[in-house]
Amino acid sequence: MDTKPIGIFDSGVGGLSVFKEIIKILPNEDIIYFADSKNNPYGNKSTNEIIKLSKKITEFLLSENCKIIVIACNTATSKAINILRQNYNINFIGMEPATKPAALNTKTGNIAVLATKGTLESKKFKKTKSEYASNVNVYTTIGKGLVKIVENNEINTKKSKNLLQQYIEPMIKNKVDQIVLGCTHYPFLCNDIKKIIGKNDITIINPATPVAIHTKNILNENNLLNKSNKNRKFTFYSSSKNTINFKNILQNYLNINTDIITLEI
Ligand code: DGL
Repeated sequence: MDTKPIGIFDSGVGGLSVFKEIIKILPNEDIIYFADSKNNPYGNKSTNEIIKLSKKITEFLLSENCKIIVIACNTATSKAINILRQNYNINFIGMEPATKPAALNTKTGNIAVLATKGTLESKKFKKTKSEYASNVNVYTTIGKGLVKIVENNEINTKKSKNLLQQYIEPMIKNKVDQIVLGCTHYPFLCNDIKKIIGKNDITIINPATPVAIHTKNILNENNLLNKSNKNRKFTFYSSSKNTINFKNILQNYLNINTDIITLEI
């Protein structure tokens, strides 16, 4: 057993949608969460920039003695996970759009993937798509502006509804029956998305639960699970000085009331 913390990072608060599932599935673990909100969004950044930022965050999480690192960001995973695995001797868990389950589950033969530009243009996404979804129509949509809506606490506003309408309505017209949320910020927009979907028979796929289960399995295989009954501890860092929205999301969606530590990387 190992009482060291799990490290989780994202370009901002989006990875809290993964954190939420991890704390359900791994109830004894201490967690350090790092939100790179100062450098958000990652979606339009170059691969080199994302690698540089991901390395800095990894080094910080290693200095905090983390036993495993969950990259709760599809964009950072698609651009940086291979380099991180080559450079650091620690297990990394990554995220990628759940294209494979969507392709397996579709009845209409049409699926949609909503993600950032960086994720949709990555080799990793293209490879998964050609390996597992070549027999279905995959409608990809860049969720331009959505990450900022979540970062700026504009969920459930006219602005978020208008933007989502532009992205979701064409998916409905194309008869998709699976919408893959390929960015960890998007589950926070789920209510808005559901309202637009209305009565259409469409499944929204958020891969956070399978990622949490995978994290548990990897910890278990490596004898790294924390089996102590002591109260677990969560520590939250943000690279941005403005932590109001981070605090709001923790309070509203996770019922956690705590301070956020600002740490520039
Ligand atoms: N949560 C990140 C992801 O899953 C958002 C990327 C961004 O910052 O643009 O891709």
